Amino acid sequence: RPRHFLSLKDLTSTELATLVDNATAHKNALQSASRSSWPLASSLSGSTISLIFSKRSTRTRVSTEGAVVALGGHPMFLGKDDIQLGVNESLYDTSVVISSMTAGIVARVGPHKDIADLAKDSSVPVINALCDTFHPMQIVADLACLTQALSTNAAGLKGLKIAWVGDANNVLYDMCIGARKLGIDMAVATPKGYEIPDRVKSMIEEAGEGTLLETNEPEQAVKDANVIVTDTWISMGQEEESQKRLKAFAGYQVTEDMAKRGGAADDWKFMHCLPRHAEEVNDEVFYGPRSLVFPEAQNRLWSAIATLEGFVVNKGDIKKTQS
Ligand code: CP
Ligand code: NVA
Repeated sequence: RPRHFLSLKDLTSTELATLVDNATAHKNALQSASRSSWPLASSLSGSTISLIFSKRSTRTRVSTEGAVVALGGHPMFLGKDDIQLGVNESLYDTSVVISSMTAGIVARVGPHKDIADLAKDSSVPVINALCDTFHPMQIVADLACLTQALSTNAAGLKGLKIAWVGDANNVLYDMCIGARKLGIDMAVATPKGYEIPDRVKSMIEEAGEGTLLETNEPEQAVKDANVIVTDTWISMGQEEESQKRLKAFAGYQVTEDMAKRGGAADDWKFMHCLPRHAEEVNDEVFYGPRSLVFPEAQNRLWSAIATLEGFVVNKGDIKKTQS
């Protein structure tokens, strides 16, 4: 059976640290003058990787297509209007057929059950490019971005404090799981009624050390935070709840004032996986000197390369890269 990557919970702490540090190694190698001797350049030569996307994407599509090309393979983008899936054909049939002709499947779906079903019947590795519960390649990128910004490695993130202010969603869940695995403390502020569900909390608790503080007060979450993170208040698929959510999240916009009132660390950094709307974070923070959002987005490319190397090229044997 192939090894799939549906969530950071599929990795040991050591494997997560390795993927994060490999992402930075690929960044350094591919941005250096000696990029022509990068040892992975033909590692997917002759292989097709299918990219099944049932939802919109900028970063995930660009980074995974670019990663497949960097590894010498052929990315085959299959948008929701391109294939029979969901209209004329079941997940089972799609998974068996596509995996019989490609070396890996990267998929963005709605419910987590869809990616789990795709993986169950696939004869090649399935990599989650976002479902309603997880977004693992995003968090590998976020952690790599943090190590670069703080001039350390994955092990050096231990003891860091990350505050999340906003919705409890797919990005947050994998972030909490990843934080536990690296010994990072998380504090999460969500409005009442939008907290992390119990079934996800147990997954987070099982993931490792690191604490999780939950509150309905943004100022309490950001106390002593080294990093403040948010995401959209309305994830893809929740559009019909827009009005209700905009009301519920009033007061949750990340601003310099909020961070000061709550007592964030003086040198706190800001992260957001993008796409961003102004209600979540004001321009001063988003475009200001604390913001890591654009290097964070670029790290999606290095994260996708590290993920494909680990799960497709090395068939799930996550080890320090030779690059
Ligand atoms: N952060 C992220 O996954 O963005 P896209 O939806 O543009 O891929
Ligand atoms: N939580 C967002 C992330 C987008 C990258 C969503 O699921 O739409």
